[in-house]
Amino acid sequence: MEKERRDFMGLGLGVFTAVGSVGALYVMKRSWDPLPSVKAAGFTTIDLAGAKGNELTVEKWRGKPIFVLKKTADMKADDRDIVIGDDRYHVSIGLCTHLGCIPAYKKDDKKFLCACHGGEFDASGHETFGPPPSPLVIPPFRIDGTKLVLGEEGPEFKKMKDAGLIA
Ligand code: FES
Repeated sequence: MEKERRDFMGLGLGVFTAVGSVGALYVMKRSWDPLPSVKAAGFTTIDLAGAKGNELTVEKWRGKPIFVLKKTADMKADDRDIVIGDDRYHVSIGLCTHLGCIPAYKKDDKKFLCACHGGEFDASGHETFGPPPSPLVIPPFRIDGTKLVLGEEGPEFKKMKDAGLIA
């Protein structure tokens, strides 16, 4: 009798854990869902039309994570922002400039936090704390309507490069 009770409780716990895991996976997937994008021969084209303010999406370009963060009105404008229409975006290669870990975006604090050695970057990708020696790196890009083509040096990228804003 006691054994049956234990078995039942064990089963209950298993089901509870499985349901919890699926829930956690769903939440993780939702927050990591990329924007619509097309990849071809070294280029990644991301459609920014559906991007939401202060929500980080992580794309992939040439095997590297790419951070795309649409800024909200209260977020400081920066020379490194990519401006499309009335919207500003922070776009960078999502690798910490210290030793290459992938920082996490803390949306409540509007900053990137690198768990490896405690480095921090603001929402424009500037290093603000800890060992990172330089800002998050902006990948070569070209603007095409509401789309961003990564892997191509468009006029906006060249302008940033000439101004010394690209590491
Ligand atoms: S790798 Fe990010 S702080 Fe060291």
